Amino acid sequence: MSPEATTQPGGGRVYSARHAKWLLRPWRRLLQRPKRILGDLVREGATVADIGCGPGYFTLPLARMVGPTGQVVALDLQPEMLERVRQRAERAGLLDRIRFHQCRPDAIDCPAPVDGILACYIVHEVPDVSRFMAEAYGLLRAGGRLLLMEPSSHVTAQNYAKTLEIALAAGFNAVGTPRIFRSRTTLLERP
Ligand SMILES: C[S@@+](CC[C@H](N)C(=O)[O-])C[C@H]1O[C@@H](n2cnc3c(N)ncnc32)[C@H](O)[C@@H]1O
Repeated sequence: MSPEATTQPGGGRVYSARHAKWLLRPWRRLLQRPKRILGDLVREGATVADIGCGPGYFTLPLARMVGPTGQVVALDLQPEMLERVRQRAERAGLLDRIRFHQCRPDAIDCPAPVDGILACYIVHEVPDVSRFMAEAYGLLRAGGRLLLMEPSSHVTAQNYAKTLEIALAAGFNAVGTPRIFRSRTTLLERP
């Protein structure tokens, strides 16, 4: 790891779709329970974006939580990840609640305003954290929330503090610090 890598909050290596199955391993359900983690972010009928959704560990629970009148936008850089979510959603009968969107590396480029955003284990991988936070802020309706989760194994406390500083500079308020296994986590709100 270069010295720079320890001082920059973003720009990390993108998690390969070849290892997608590790994000769905069964023990994760015991230690990162989607219903407990997402409770403050989602209500029935809401539109929620799962940015950097990977194979959809949180996307499918989100789709259940928003219910038949809500919608989840699953966004990822890698089409293989989106295809994985699509297949899993089809098997679960949740396809009609999920829209899919392929991001560009430097832009989320999400089509619609949303009530909530989940950004789980993605921000350290994006090349420009300031741009990511500004775009996420612009995507949210007033009062909307973004749950920021970063892996404590890959993101130092110092880099996480920088990420948070960037989020606050983009206009977010920090309204909570949920405790989540092996994660640095903040609940951010657009005033
Ligand atoms: C470590 S995985 C986490 C996946 C999922 N959120 C989870 O918790 O299981 C990070 C994901 O972010 C995606 N990603 C990385 N950079 C991205 C970007 N600039 N825009 C959209 N997705 C990105 C990767 O393709 C990968 O699927």
